[in-house]
Amino acid sequence: MAIRKILKMGDPRLLRVAKKVESFQTQKLLSLIVDMTETMHHAQGVGLAAPQIGENLQVVMFGTGEANPRYPDEAPVAKTILINPVIVPLSQDTEEGWEGCLSVPGLRGRVPRWKSIQYSGVNELGEPVDREAHGFHARMVQHECDHLWGILYPMRIKDFTQFGYTEVLFPELSDASDD
Ligand code: NI
Repeated sequence: MAIRKILKMGDPRLLRVAKKVESFQTQKLLSLIVDMTETMHHAQGVGLAAPQIGENLQVVMFGTGEANPRYPDEAPVAKTILINPVIVPLSQDTEEGWEGCLSVPGLRGRVPRWKSIQYSGVNELGEPVDREAHGFHARMVQHECDHLWGILYPMRIKDFTQFGYTEVLFPELSDASDD
């Protein structure tokens, strides 16, 4: 169990396509999940993907079950561990919203995402997860799963006038610079 170093944009390990998890209930997987949980909480993040700590596996976590002070207007998202995820858009409707990322500290950008998705996969026990998500919840899932395909949110920004430093864009959040 350990707080792990979070890789930052520019590290080629963030650009890999992660491998599927093949074995469940293993010490290796459980240790990874503990490390990811501790690392995410230490960084006060709302989501984390295994590649962000250098583990090339399709494991993401997101949500805390509580309101996050950085996203005060958004309903809390249940704490979720999602492995080997598949995302299917429920319509082609997209919307732009602000995102940050622990691997891109100090910055925020407006990113287009599908508004409504179905996502599926398994949890840490290998049990199926199958949900619909909309809005902020859908955005969070798309952001975290993108890490598994080697995509960081700046790679999806269309309008680079909507990309900048958190302390400038959102001075009220300046003590919360990362995602
Ligand atoms: Ni991220």
